Amino acid sequence: MPNVGIVGLGSFVPEDILTNADLEKMVDTTDEWITTRTGILERRRVKSDVPVSELCYQAGLKALADAQVQPHEVQLVIVASVTPDYAFPATACLVAERLGIRQAAAFDLEAGCSGFVYGIATASQFIATGMYQTALVIGGETLSKITNWNDRATCVLFGDGAGAAVLQPVAEGYGFLGIELGADGSGGDVLIQPAGGSQYPADAQTVRDNLHTIRMAGREVFRFAVRVIEGAVCRVLEKSGLHKEDIELFIFHQANRRIIETAAKRLELTPEKLFVNLQRYGNTSAASIPLALDEAVQAGCIRDGDLLILAGFGAGLTWGAIVVKWGGREVDNN
Ligand code: UT7
Repeated sequence: MPNVGIVGLGSFVPEDILTNADLEKMVDTTDEWITTRTGILERRRVKSDVPVSELCYQAGLKALADAQVQPHEVQLVIVASVTPDYAFPATACLVAERLGIRQAAAFDLEAGCSGFVYGIATASQFIATGMYQTALVIGGETLSKITNWNDRATCVLFGDGAGAAVLQPVAEGYGFLGIELGADGSGGDVLIQPAGGSQYPADAQTVRDNLHTIRMAGREVFRFAVRVIEGAVCRVLEKSGLHKEDIELFIFHQANRRIIETAAKRLELTPEKLFVNLQRYGNTSAASIPLALDEAVQAGCIRDGDLLILAGFGAGLTWGAIVVKWGGREVDNN
C-alpha cells in the first residue's frame, strides 16, 4: 500500500476581528479572565450573510494552488464541520462545485473538533487502497453562528475559519505513519448543540430556549481533553514505533492554552515543541488544526523530513491523533 501524505495546504479566516475588549462590552467578562483562563486574545467572525462553504472554498482554493493540483484531478472532497451550510445537502458538495471539482465523491464528516483528524484518517484510507489518488480535506467552521452571545462561559472561546489539505501518495517512509481515533459517546451531552436535529427539531420554543447554540460543561471537557491528548499521543507513538523525543512539533487542537500546556506537561514536552496560535483565532473547532498547521509551515517551523503529531479532541466526545513525516512528495515527470 502506498504511503499517503499532505502535498498542499491552505487556510482562510474572515477579516472581522472580535477582541477581548469587544467582548467586555457584550457580556460580564474581562480581558484578564479570558487571557489567563484561555490564552485567547482575539478571534475572527464572519459577516451574517457568509456561510461556512465560503471559508472552505477559500481555504480549498489555496490548498489546490499550493499542491499545484487542478480541480479535475481531485477525486474525493471531505468537509469536517459542526456548522455546515445546511443539514443537507453536504457542504462538501457545495464546496466541490464552487472549486470546479466535478464527478468527485464528496461528503461531510462530523466529529466535532477532531473532525479534521478524522477527515485526514478517512481520506488517507481511500488513497492507501489505491481507490483514489488525490483528496481534498477541509475543516471549516462558522461557530459564531451557533454561539450564545449572552453566555460568557462560551462566547469568549470560539472563532470562525477554515483550513484545507490536499492528500496524495508520497515517497516511502513519508506521510501518515500512525493513526489513532476514538470516541466516547457517554460524554455526548457535555458539548452539544441540542436543537435542530431529530431529537429537538426547530420550533419557536427551541429558539426561545436558545437550544440552537453551543452548550458546554467547560470543566468536564477540560479534564477529558487533557486525558485524551495524553492517551492518544502515547498510543499513536506506539503504533508508529516512535518515541515522543522523535517528534519535532506537536499541533494540538487549539481550544485553550491551559489545556495544551497541561497535556504537554503530562507528556513532558518542552514549550518549543508546541505550536500555538489560538491567541489570534480562539477555538475554531474542526478548522483549528489545519489553520495551525498551515501557519506553522508558512512560518518555517516545519521542514521536509520533520515528524509531527496532530491531535484533536471534541464533541462526541471524540479524539484523534496522527503522526506525519512531513514532505516526500513524488515528483511527476510527465
Ligand atoms: O474544542 C473543545 C471544546 N471546548 C474546550 O475545550 C473548552 C474546555 N474548557 C475550558 O477551556 C475551560 O473549562 C473554560 C475556559 C471554558 C472555563 O475555565 P474554567 O477555569 O474551567 O472556569 P469555570 O468554568 O470553572 O468557571 C470559573 C468561574 C465561574 O465563576 P464562579 O462560579 O467561580 O463564581 C464562572 O462563572 O469563572 C466564571 N466565568 C467567567 N468569568 C468571567 C466563566 N466564564 C467567564 C467569563 N468571564 N467569560
